[in-house]
Amino acid sequence: MSNLSDSAPWKALQSHHEEVCDLHMRDLFVDDPDRFGKFSVSACGLLLDYSKNRITTDTMSKLFALAREVDVATHGKSMFAGERINTTEDRSVLHAALRMPKGSELHVDGEEIVEQVHKVADHAAAFVNRVRNKEWTGYTGKPINTIVNIGIGGSDLGPLMVCEALKPWQQKDLSFHFVSNVDGSHIAQVIESVDMATTLFIIASKTFTTQETLTNARSARDAFLQSGAAEKDIAKHFVAVSTNADAVAEFGIDVDNMFRFWDWVGGRYSLWSSIGLSIRLSVGNENFDAMLSGAHQMDRHFAETDYENNIPVILALLGVWYGNFFNVRSHVIEPYDQYLHRFPAYLQQLDMESNGKRVKMNGTVVDYATGPVIWGEPGTNGQHAFFQLMHQGTDLITADFIAPVKSQNPIGEHHSILLANFLAQTEALMTGKPQSDVEAELRERSVDEKQIASLAPHKVFEGNRPTNTIMMDELTPTALGSLIAMYEHKVFVQGKIWGINSFDQWGVELGKQLAATLLGELQSQKIGEHDSSTIGLLAHCFRVRA
Ligand code: F6P
Repeated sequence: MSNLSDSAPWKALQSHHEEVCDLHMRDLFVDDPDRFGKFSVSACGLLLDYSKNRITTDTMSKLFALAREVDVATHGKSMFAGERINTTEDRSVLHAALRMPKGSELHVDGEEIVEQVHKVADHAAAFVNRVRNKEWTGYTGKPINTIVNIGIGGSDLGPLMVCEALKPWQQKDLSFHFVSNVDGSHIAQVIESVDMATTLFIIASKTFTTQETLTNARSARDAFLQSGAAEKDIAKHFVAVSTNADAVAEFGIDVDNMFRFWDWVGGRYSLWSSIGLSIRLSVGNENFDAMLSGAHQMDRHFAETDYENNIPVILALLGVWYGNFFNVRSHVIEPYDQYLHRFPAYLQQLDMESNGKRVKMNGTVVDYATGPVIWGEPGTNGQHAFFQLMHQGTDLITADFIAPVKSQNPIGEHHSILLANFLAQTEALMTGKPQSDVEAELRERSVDEKQIASLAPHKVFEGNRPTNTIMMDELTPTALGSLIAMYEHKVFVQGKIWGINSFDQWGVELGKQLAATLLGELQSQKIGEHDSSTIGLLAHCFRVRA
């Protein structure tokens, strides 16, 4: 394909944008009573309503034409077939293979990998059963009752998010901690609160070279040994999840207690692999498998459904529509479910580390925007914090609203109140409140005309703010699996449209290199060559420390 921005579908979208950008969704809903029917789709237990978007059927046809131009389907096939689509790291991208059922086959570089995947999963499952059944005991003979996952990025965010999301399925006599930050306060708090004799540390790191994880792991090991345990006891309390057996052995963890995975699983796509060990321990193997099956259903939906009914494709195209034609730079994730409170943070890495790129696969710089800023907080908390800006701020911000129809905790009226707010917000963002309505309302309350004139502009909501609504019957392991995989494929489609590599992350390297240099300088108290700001700040640290 020629440059994306020179392609016919792109140009067609540009001129279409000029025609429709001033249309108000309020009018579109009045003009078409079947708008919900036209712009909603269900699959894998999820309902996506995308009718509250600034689109017409013509917009969607033009967006689907863009997907055809880019040939999203063929790119999807290449990923699922294990082609080395992560070209800068010369790797396949096969997180979907981790969810393929037993008995299926996938040959990559002459090797059948699904059997390997299940062999490793069985190894993890057997260990998990021993811990959960109290057969795996600590060095004093007591069973394990506390799990500490030490990891960062994909080795933390995914497992933590899922463990929180599936809390109702958590084994009640096990407690979980996740340590990621290299700030000593993070591990210190956990060390302080656990009984080492009944604690299992999972050192989760794909590379087993990540500074934060290894520093935390060493401090955990030191604290363990200081608690009265001996070197030989480490094997009962430290296990590793990694692709790097040598580094695991060097750290002192018995490689028999290492759960492996493969370099074709990207860090931010790894919760389905052994990196999900903490999830298995929390919710059990059966529920973990249910989550895999939900994700697999979504893989099939994505691979086998025409663009017009394909949830990840639709979501990706809508993101492109706003990002590239309305100049929207920020997208909010609003889960109306307390158990999904870490979902926005998880999606930040998934989306921003994948599509925060400015260079195309061929090394040239893009002349259009790529991945947006992703942020959010669970509803209804967000309503009382940043929704003001979404409703009345100067920037157009798009959002995904996510909610289960049924609650895991049906107490009193809580869930009806939650759902009412959930529905009210997307309605308000869409319809807004025109000046005439504001004035009429004030008059009804007998406010005098002078005050009406001064108050009304502040109370006007322009509306026309786009949202997607995603609902599931209940937040079950299966539904969660489908939801996560849906976002993985959305990110994939957008990366393919923008022509970038969604599977590398070179942007995190420079900071790591500079941190290594600065660590030496902080330790030796000798300032090297830097800009005056860094020199001034280092000198300030030395002064305060002295
Ligand atoms: O620095 C970024 C990153 O490489 C992420 O992509 C990854 O999820 C995280 O660090 C942790 O990496 P590892 O699992 O190798 O410790």
